[in-house]
Amino acid sequence: MIRFKQRSTENELMDDLSLDEIQIRSILKDITLANKWLGGNNITIKALDRLFKEHPREKYTILDIGCGDGSMLREVADHCAENHIKTQLIGLDLNEKSINIAKESSRGYGNIRYLTQDVLALKPEKFRCDILLCTLTLHHFSREQIHTFIKKFALLATIGIIVNDLDRNKIGFALFKVFSLVFMKTHVAKHDGLVSIKSGFTKNDFHIFSRSVPSMDYKVLWRWAFRYEWILTHPNT
Ligand SMILES: C[S@@+](CC[C@H](N)C(=O)[O-])C[C@H]1O[C@@H](n2cnc3c(N)ncnc32)[C@H](O)[C@@H]1O
Repeated sequence: MIRFKQRSTENELMDDLSLDEIQIRSILKDITLANKWLGGNNITIKALDRLFKEHPREKYTILDIGCGDGSMLREVADHCAENHIKTQLIGLDLNEKSINIAKESSRGYGNIRYLTQDVLALKPEKFRCDILLCTLTLHHFSREQIHTFIKKFALLATIGIIVNDLDRNKIGFALFKVFSLVFMKTHVAKHDGLVSIKSGFTKNDFHIFSRSVPSMDYKVLWRWAFRYEWILTHPNT
């Protein structure tokens, strides 16, 4: 693999909380399109299915950290409804405008609720869940922050954690450049997609992060298109 040696510390433009709701809506639409075309959310759905199978429960509470416009949770809700799996779904995001869009887009989904919440200030006793999802959000944080909140996530989730994030890879970067030029509309999503890949991870990064939660079992799997699936589970749950 051809790598960027270090994770980039460049800021993503979408983290600017002064962007208005119309801008946020278009950016999240671009991200959702990339997820759909490049199979991003499917990775999380398949990982969820494996956890459902290994940890049968009557009902699952699932928390999505950095939920954006809620498209991941709607896919989870549809998938679980089709498979007769009962769920209660909660989406958290720092950006109130994204939460408003998520709420509006999820009308008709009685089992999803959304809250504006900074993940860095998350109180484990307030948000207990069975499974915690974190899709394309981890790369927004520094190594120190990731070590801190993976410990918090471990306290929140009784079964485990599914992280789906980007491979820091020059080939993925070049391919995304072409994809975004052809298919994405907003400058912010094109820019942030490239910054995100440079802020992404190597397999070894996840091995190192996993040392913060030594009591958990974990797996790191490379997935097309240039993603990592990092699953942590509590043993004997
Ligand atoms: C690239 S988007 C991913 C959105 C969605 N998970 C997806 O896969 O399409 C990253 C999200 O993380 C959110 N985010 C960034 N920093 C955050 C923080 N400190 N607390 C909560 N959410 C945060 C952003 O507002 C944004 O919605």
